[in-house]
Amino acid sequence: MAKPNKNKMPVKMEKLMSLCKRRGFIYQSSEIYGGQSACWDYGPLGVEVKNNIKQLWWKAMVQENENIEGIDAAIIMHPRVWEASGHVEGFHDPMVDCKECKRRFRADQLTTDVCPECGGEFTDVRQFNLMFKTHIGPVEDSASIAYLRPETAQGIYVNFLNVYNSSRQKIPFGIAQIGKAFRNEITPGNFIFRSREFEQMEMQFFVKPEEADSWMEHWKQQRWNFHMRLGIRPERLRWHEHGPDELAHYAKSAFDIEYRFPFGWSELEGVHNRTDFDLKRHTEFSGKDMSYFDQETNERYIPYIIETSAGCDRTMLEILTDSYEEEPGEKETRVVMRISPLIAPIKAAVFPLVKRDGMPEIAREIQQELKKAFPIFYDEGGSIGRRYRRMDEAGTPYCLTVDSQTKEDNTVTVRDRDSMDQTRVKIDDLKSMIRNAIENYKRPETVDTLEDTYVE
Ligand code: GAP
Repeated sequence: MAKPNKNKMPVKMEKLMSLCKRRGFIYQSSEIYGGQSACWDYGPLGVEVKNNIKQLWWKAMVQENENIEGIDAAIIMHPRVWEASGHVEGFHDPMVDCKECKRRFRADQLTTDVCPECGGEFTDVRQFNLMFKTHIGPVEDSASIAYLRPETAQGIYVNFLNVYNSSRQKIPFGIAQIGKAFRNEITPGNFIFRSREFEQMEMQFFVKPEEADSWMEHWKQQRWNFHMRLGIRPERLRWHEHGPDELAHYAKSAFDIEYRFPFGWSELEGVHNRTDFDLKRHTEFSGKDMSYFDQETNERYIPYIIETSAGCDRTMLEILTDSYEEEPGEKETRVVMRISPLIAPIKAAVFPLVKRDGMPEIAREIQQELKKAFPIFYDEGGSIGRRYRRMDEAGTPYCLTVDSQTKEDNTVTVRDRDSMDQTRVKIDDLKSMIRNAIENYKRPETVDTLEDTYVE
C-alpha cells in the first residue's frame, strides 16, 4: 500500500460521507444552520448500526462474563474527580495559531515551521485544556465550575466501592459502561474519526497487581476477537504498542488496535495497564479508602486496572469503511455496503414484483411475520433493479421478492447482496435463512477498487 497522502482527501472517504448522508447513516450536526463542526448526527440507518455495535459490545463484556458488571454513570461529575484523574492539570494539547490566516494547529502534529495553509508565522506554543467547561447553578464563578466528562472511565473508578459492595464480586472483576464523552479537540477531522462529542465503550478490570500482565494478554485477545466478530478484514487490523514517549501519565503499558483507514493506520481502541494510579489518586483526593481486602490470603492492596477503551464512533467508521465497495459493471458501477448481517441495519427487504395481483398483500404478510424477529424493510416503489440498488447501499443482506410463482408454491425469490445470486426459498424457511446469515456470515474475497485513490 502506498503511503496515504495527508494533504488530499481519499476518494473513498468522500464517497462514503456522501453515501452516509444520502442513505441516512450520518449527517452533519445542525446542518440547516451551516453545521456544527466536529459534531455528527446518526440517521435512521446509522443509529441501527450504532445500537448493534453497542449491544454486541455489551454482550461480549457484561453478558458473557460473570465477573463483569455494567453501570451508567452521570456525564457531569464532581469537579474534584478531574483533579484526581489528572485531567485538570495534564489533559492538554500544545497549540499554535497562524498570525496571518488565524488558523489553529496542534504544535505536535506540525511538520513545518511556517503555516501549511498560507506560509504565515506561528504564535508561541500554548497549552490548551481539552475539557469542556460549564457552570452548575445560576452563578458563573470559579466555585460553580463543572466539566463534561472527557472519558467514561472515571465514572467507573468513583463507583468501584459501590459496585463491589452491592454486587458480591471478588477480585478479579470488571465494570463496564457505554456513554458519551466530550473533548474540545483542536484539530478534529476525518469525518467521525475525531469529533468533539463521541461515545466510548469502556471496561475497567480490577486485578491483583502481580496478575496484571496476564490479564492484559487476556483482554488484548478478547478485543481482537471482537473485531473478527464484526467481520472486519484482519489484514486491515494491527497492534501498536505505545513507546515510552507515547504512554499516558497513568499507564505502565498500552496497546492500540489500529485499523487501516483510507487516511492511514489509526487508533481504534486501546488496552491499557493503568496500574494502581486511579484508585490511589481517588483515595487521596476523596479521603475514602479504595483498597481491597482479600479474605482468602488476608492481604490488603490497591488493585491494578486493565482498561479496554473503545470508541463507538470509530468502530462505526471502521465498519463503514471496511464495508464500502464499488463493483464496476457493464452499464453502471454498483455501490454495495458489505456489512455483516450481524450488524446490518436492515436484515431483509420485502418487495412485491408489481403492485397488483395480490402481490403487495402477500409481501406485507411476510414482512409482518419476519418483523417479529428482525428489522425488515418493505418497498414497492420503482423498478426492482432500483430497489435492489437502494438496499445494496443500505447494506441489506437479502431482498425477498414476491412474484407470480409465490401464489403457486409459497416461495419467493431471494437475491443475495454479495453475490447477486437469485434463488427460490420457501416462505417458511426465510426466518432460519436470515438467522443463519446473522450467525455464520462469511465475507467474499473482493478487491477494493478505491484503495489509494485521492481527490484531485
Ligand atoms: N479512558 C481512556 C481513554 O479515554 P483514549 O485513548 O483517550 O483513552 C479511548 O480514548 C478511545 O476513545 C480511543 O481509542 C477512540 O476510539 C475514542 N476517542 C478518543 N477521542 C476521540 C474523539 N475525539 N473522537 C472520537 N473518538 C475518540
